[in-house]
Formats: sequence, C-alpha cells, structure tokens
Amino acid sequence: MRYIYANWKSHKNIIQAREWMQVFLTNISEGSKKALSSRALEVGIFPPSPLLYPVHEMLKGESGIIIGAQDVSRYAEGKHTGLVNASSLSGIATHAIVGHAEMRLYGDTQSVVYEKFARAQDALIIPIVCMRKNDEYIDDAQIVVYEPEYAIGSGIVATPDEIRKFRSSLPDKKDQVFLYGGSVNDETVISLISQNICDGFLVGAASLDPIAFANLINRTI
Ligand code: PGA
Repeated sequence: MRYIYANWKSHKNIIQAREWMQVFLTNISEGSKKALSSRALEVGIFPPSPLLYPVHEMLKGESGIIIGAQDVSRYAEGKHTGLVNASSLSGIATHAIVGHAEMRLYGDTQSVVYEKFARAQDALIIPIVCMRKNDEYIDDAQIVVYEPEYAIGSGIVATPDEIRKFRSSLPDKKDQVFLYGGSVNDETVISLISQNICDGFLVGAASLDPIAFANLINRTI
C-alpha cells in the first residue's frame, strides 16, 4: 500500500481548487486509477480549512482519495474563536496533520501536539504525526511522517540512508505507516521509491501544480 498526500499549506482559493482538481483527475494515469480503486494507492488532499468541504464535494464518486485537515485545535468544541476543532471535520475529512514543522515553529510544543493528537482521535479523525526528530514520535500513531526541517521547501531531499536511519531509530511497528516529506517532487521521488524506505510521501510545493502532482503519483506506480 502506498500513500501520497498533498499538503497545499496556505495556498489556493475555491476557483483554483476546482481548476486543480479537474486537471489533476484528467492527468492521473490508468495505472494510478487502478491502484486507487484496488486500494493499492491512497492519495490525500490537505487543503486550507475553508476548502475542505468544497474539495470533499469535488471528490464525490472518486475512490482512493482521502481528505485531511492541515491541523486541528488542541481543544474540543467550545469558546475558541478561530480554531478548527476535530469534531467539526466529521463527514468532511478523515485525517488531520498534527505537529507539522511549520506549526511547531509557530509555537506548538510536543505536549500541544499530543493534545491535538488526542482531540483528533476522540473525533475519529486519523491524526498524521509529523516529526522533525525522533523525540517528536507518538507511539500510538497510525501514520507518522519524517520531515527534517532542512528539507522542507528547500529543494534538498534527505538521502535514502538518512531516512532509513531515522526509521530504524523508531520502535518497530508493523502496522504503522511511515512517510517521508521534504522537497519530494516528480523527479526526486524516483530515487526514493526505488529504495523502498517508506510507505509514501507528504508533498508540499510539488502538490500545487496538478500536472506535476499527477506525474509524481504516476511515476510511483
Ligand atoms: P515541501 O513541503 O514538499 O514543499 O518541502 C513538505 C511539507 O512541509 O509537508
């Protein structure tokens, strides 16, 4: 099973999202479509919060494509103006990123990440835990992502050896999905995929262009 997730970060409005989706869906190869419908491949779209529901509507009838939030509130429902609580995602998104390096830079400590993780789980949303270092690992996570800070948005990809070494520093959990993120694009993905070091990728900048993102996926099949 392979996972390829698009993290749009703070990009795109509804018109751009519609255009993206139309171009993306027409550029996915027959092989990728087969992999999506047989569940050999899971693609994820992580748009900005206001686009979660529109993207959910655009993907009706498509199989193998999940929708996720880029973050959730550390609090449950309540008096928290501006925060997106995990239970409000029900019926729209199935996953949520917690502990992304950019949120950690804005002040999310590991204890805040734990709270967000727990709120997502309480709401039956699958939390995806991003780690820059192995002390940011969360044991019960179903999906974890190694994203070294220097590789995010820099054009520099971690070497297969480094990714392998990082993975081997974590507890050996057969059922845990391990992804890599950091400057993955339709070129850099080729060497990563041939090494079989991870279950898939979290893609930022290279997911903004629907053709490049479709190519990236097509090349992994
Ligand atoms: P990048 O971002 O692919 O632009 O490096 C990855 C991420 O931050 O999730």
